[in-house]
Amino acid sequence: MKTPAIVLNFKAYTQVVGEKGIKLAKICENIAKENRVEIVVAPQMVDLGVIAKSVELPVFSQHVDPVEPGSRTGHTTPESVKGAGGAGTLINHSEMRMRIADIDFAVEKCRQLGLETIVCTNNLNVSKACALVNPDFIAVEPPELIGGDVSVTTANPEIVRNTVNAIKDINPNVKVLCGAGVKNGKDVAKALELGAEGVLLASGVVKAKNPKDVLMDLISRIK
Ligand code: G3P
Repeated sequence: MKTPAIVLNFKAYTQVVGEKGIKLAKICENIAKENRVEIVVAPQMVDLGVIAKSVELPVFSQHVDPVEPGSRTGHTTPESVKGAGGAGTLINHSEMRMRIADIDFAVEKCRQLGLETIVCTNNLNVSKACALVNPDFIAVEPPELIGGDVSVTTANPEIVRNTVNAIKDINPNVKVLCGAGVKNGKDVAKALELGAEGVLLASGVVKAKNPKDVLMDLISRIK
């Protein structure tokens, strides 16, 4: 995943189920290609394979289970994400929390498989702890701002700046993203100004009347 990047989490919204998810992924692909910017999509697990085959974009899963392959009914292994054409995965999203030992297992297994990892964190201490398991990215997202109308870059710019500085000290290999309430190009520009290398967002695009217009505004400050 190149940076700066816009990482679009489809979550479990009905607006992106099945064909609707493929349609949004194709909109992201066209915008990314025409404007030479990095857009990553994270569809629902059941749609990952078909979307990975439908677009030339990095397609990430929203989660992987920290288990080895085998008799694991209902689990999603990192191997299955790789096999479906995934390029990486979110780990420890606020809506799918994990224990640090499981985060460590998942990051290491993904590294072995060549899957990039974005470990999501809810505050500075969790970001510092997760930097030690050496993910590719840490995405700091204050849970109280997720899904809201005010961007983390406006409501709490300090957490972005402090996370960037702390991670640089602990593990300079890890790049920092931020998310929660990100809605427009101004929020993206502010995130980059604070030292983040991209944003992680969902509702501002997935629930928009015209996702293409929102995406064009988001990328206007990174191209
Ligand atoms: O994974 C990104 C997500 O948690 C942020 O949600 O709707 O505030 O962009 P949203």
